[in-house]
Amino acid sequence: MPAADVENLIDGRAIAGQIHEETRQAVARLLEQGQQPGLAFVRVGEDPASRVYVGMKEKACLKLGIRSQTDVLPEDTTQKDLLKHVADLNADATVHGILVQAPLPSHIDSAAVFNTISSRKDVDGFHPINMGKLLLGDTDGFVPCTPAGVQELLLRTDTTIEGAHVVVLGRGNIVGKPLAALLFQKATGANATVTLCHSRTSNIGEHCRRADILVAAMGVPEFVKADMVKPSAVVIDVGVNRIDDPAAKNGTRLVGDVDFAAVQPVAGRITPNPGGVGPMTIALLLRNTVRAAAKATGKEN
Ligand code: GUN
Repeated sequence: MPAADVENLIDGRAIAGQIHEETRQAVARLLEQGQQPGLAFVRVGEDPASRVYVGMKEKACLKLGIRSQTDVLPEDTTQKDLLKHVADLNADATVHGILVQAPLPSHIDSAAVFNTISSRKDVDGFHPINMGKLLLGDTDGFVPCTPAGVQELLLRTDTTIEGAHVVVLGRGNIVGKPLAALLFQKATGANATVTLCHSRTSNIGEHCRRADILVAAMGVPEFVKADMVKPSAVVIDVGVNRIDDPAAKNGTRLVGDVDFAAVQPVAGRITPNPGGVGPMTIALLLRNTVRAAAKATGKEN
């Protein structure tokens, strides 16, 4: 690839590395005070993608000195047993963060599970108390990791957020909704004008073309095409979609929500995929965990 082609890439791995370094220092400060942050992963069943994601998060914990445990429950675990498991983790003083990996089996009410995690251990930021705090601009809560990671990518590439028109594609609870709430706050690193588009939005291309910052998080493979992007806009691709590809070894490959090859020449800056948003989600999870541990002992640093 010619050098000019890679110049506009936003290197999520490098930026995540900066945050990991900050987190590692925060872990060291807590260790000096006799406190080791602990994160519990709960996986129900053997969803292959979930196994990979939890494995990556465990490895990252190990590197930074965060204690982690992964509790694997059988696919046919009842809702009652899962809620009891979460309640036990809520009561465990060595566990500062709890992450129940989604998706959960269809017989489980995911919202009930996320609502049972103590809001003080909710390092995913999915609990209604943390979502409510985010919406209200109360920075005491936990911000969901992917939206917080997108904000950090923008801040650490000196992208102007204040006054910018941000168009978010997707209204999911994990990314779209909390990201919109994060960026429209009257706050440093925010103050954007946010348009939230979704599957029922009319003339979605027109909205996209007005974006200074376009964030694609709706889970539609390569949805964003070059003619939907204002020249020089910053494009952030949150999508992870597995599509059929007869030429690939296992017959499938992963693509984002952005048609990267077409959009890269138009965009001012753009995240690659992989290597863009994904590493940021893990970095923010670990930062949230260390913050949870610090808050638990009144040593937030
Ligand atoms: N599954 C996919 N992304 C996430 C995430 O951020 N948190 C949890 N708990 N499950 C997920």
